[in-house]
Amino acid sequence: MTQPLTIALSKGRILKETLPLLEAAGIVPAEDIFSSRKLIFDTNQDHVKLVVIRATDVPTYVEYGGADMGISGKDVLLEHGGEGLYEPLDLEIACCKLMTAGLVKAAPVKGRLRIATKFVNLTREYFARQGLQVDIIKLYGAMELAPIMGLADQIVDIVDTGNTLRANGLEPLELIAPISSRLVVGQASMKMKYDLIQPIVDSMAQAVVARR
Ligand code: ADP
Ligand code: PRP
Ligand code: MG
Repeated sequence: MTQPLTIALSKGRILKETLPLLEAAGIVPAEDIFSSRKLIFDTNQDHVKLVVIRATDVPTYVEYGGADMGISGKDVLLEHGGEGLYEPLDLEIACCKLMTAGLVKAAPVKGRLRIATKFVNLTREYFARQGLQVDIIKLYGAMELAPIMGLADQIVDIVDTGNTLRANGLEPLELIAPISSRLVVGQASMKMKYDLIQPIVDSMAQAVVARR
């Protein structure tokens, strides 16, 4: 009998773009993921299941073997640290930028910068690489509000169109990293289930090239 294989998908904005890539690898959910309250889904392949979870939880599930592979934003992977994961493929979806941003024409800050973000680890590393110690204020969303309310001098967040920054009187400052979604595979799963996983990676790689 074929070994079971579980793939972790991020619910939210990347789910829709993820399904055609899975389909290219011959994997189709057995029911409509968007209209269901289920967290785990059967597929057209008996041995393959999908779990649909918060984007930030995908690397954790794959790291600990709760899922064999997954699809996750590079921002989330940088924040997680990537322990226990291989990242064999850039899926070239949900492209955006991880940036610092501040109020338009903000006065220079005396003393330590205060940075509001949900990406506390990568933010600390980014500023440390520049020899700067900063105070990091952890938020779970709407980071753009923090400088307006005097909670922070700058933010670290995703920028795509720039509309959210503009609408709130902020401007992009420095690029930390270009972001896209990646296929990740657990290192233990890759070893144990290589024959199942590698063809999926190859088919998705072809689909990525075909989409360009
Ligand atoms: P969350 O609820 O954790 O913010 P999202 O569904 O909004 O999750 O985002 C999932 C992933 O999509 C992020 O990790 C990032 O890689 C990417 N992303 C987030 N915001 C944008 C955006 N505005 N435009 C394009 N990609 C984005
Ligand atoms: C994301 C991100 C920014 C915005 C950037 O927020 O955190 O706020 O999109 O996109 P833009 O440059 O095109 O305006 P999202 O809509 O995902 O909200 P949430 O993560 O706080 O729920
Ligand atoms: Mg979001």
